[in-house]
Amino acid sequence: MGQRGYFITFEGQDGAGKTTQMKRLQQALEERGYCVRMTREPGGCPISEQIREILLNIGNDEMDGVCEAYLYAAARAQHVRQVIVPALMRGEIVLCDRFIDSSLAYQGAGRGLGVERVAQINREAIGEWMPDLTLYFSLDPESGMQRNATGGKTLDRMEAAGEDFRARVRAGFMELAKGQPGRIRVVDADRSLEDVWQQVLSAVQEYLHLSRT
Ligand code: TYD
Repeated sequence: MGQRGYFITFEGQDGAGKTTQMKRLQQALEERGYCVRMTREPGGCPISEQIREILLNIGNDEMDGVCEAYLYAAARAQHVRQVIVPALMRGEIVLCDRFIDSSLAYQGAGRGLGVERVAQINREAIGEWMPDLTLYFSLDPESGMQRNATGGKTLDRMEAAGEDFRARVRAGFMELAKGQPGRIRVVDADRSLEDVWQQVLSAVQEYLHLSRT
């Protein structure tokens, strides 16, 4: 069997510019000869995309936090098995827009379920498939909302959750990054596109190099 690929996730709050940087990274890695699979959560395959619609539907304002945590985990369970693991087993680099750290920060810290409880809910969903490397795009959440508003984006259910919620999510992400500095690399997203790109590239290069020696 060939070498297992690398699993890299992108985390951070809405409007931090993750998607743009992911596309650039995909291109840069492909130019270096890597086979790259780009995907996202919640979603990434038909069943999980249907769960995404339920989660983000602004009309579902009665949704309980526990239900929300299970739905994100259910979408993840399908996505891990149908998309992520097969790609890793083919030796590809998987770039995933959000993964378990989003659940820990949004449901654990933001909704107040607690990080440990949400980790428990996700244990069965992800099994041993933790990311090898996570880039956390750090940005004041209110400037992220501002960036989205400037782009004319309409709010989904999570984005409509309010300023206090976003502050708790931010604190949650920072706590996670502090606790796992080996896996989670902090990218200062409050910089120019070019500057952010340099941070992304050097974190990934450092990781790919380190994991080969
Ligand atoms: P995202 O796809 O980044 O939204 P958009 O396309 O609008 O930028 O993510 C959807 C929302 O879901 C986002 O607000 C974060 C939230 N989320 C959680 O609360 N928990 C999770 O486990 C995941 C993966 C996302």
